[in-house]
Amino acid sequence: MFTSSLLSGTKPEQYAQLAEQARALLHGERDRTANAAQLSALLYHALPDLNWAGFYFFDGTELVVGPFQGLPACVRIPLDKGVCGAAATTRTTQRIDDVHAFPGHIACDSASNSELVVPLVKDGALVGVLDLDSPVHARFDVIDQEGLEVIAHLFLEALG
Ligand code: SME
Repeated sequence: MFTSSLLSGTKPEQYAQLAEQARALLHGERDRTANAAQLSALLYHALPDLNWAGFYFFDGTELVVGPFQGLPACVRIPLDKGVCGAAATTRTTQRIDDVHAFPGHIACDSASNSELVVPLVKDGALVGVLDLDSPVHARFDVIDQEGLEVIAHLFLEALG
């Protein structure tokens, strides 16, 4: 049984604890759907002020929604659309303080005001994106970005 332990200490310390919990969850499992589901649940419950946390996977043409926590979301996102598309095409993390000011932002949940999207790239190939949404403006700082890039890296490593 997974027992969630509250994150404590400084924010970098909290992300180190979160990474440890993620490592434990992913240990010995390579299945992409299972690992994405587990990480979505971990992130959604461990991090404050989120209304969506989950994965989109690249199907060779566009991004298709994968495991997530939060309200039902847009199923397919073309690569030239939205914050997710920007992360996927530029292969750089998008940390958006005000999604309403982002050209082409796709509003899946009207509660979202800020967003962090980490691209998932393995061996040069686009796997998808890890997407977090918050109702709080400018919810994500650089420490969140670095912490979630570590989680994304652990997910990619676990794919084998
Ligand atoms: N807002 C995203 C779409 C995905 S949802 O936030 C879950 C975007 O603009 O790409």
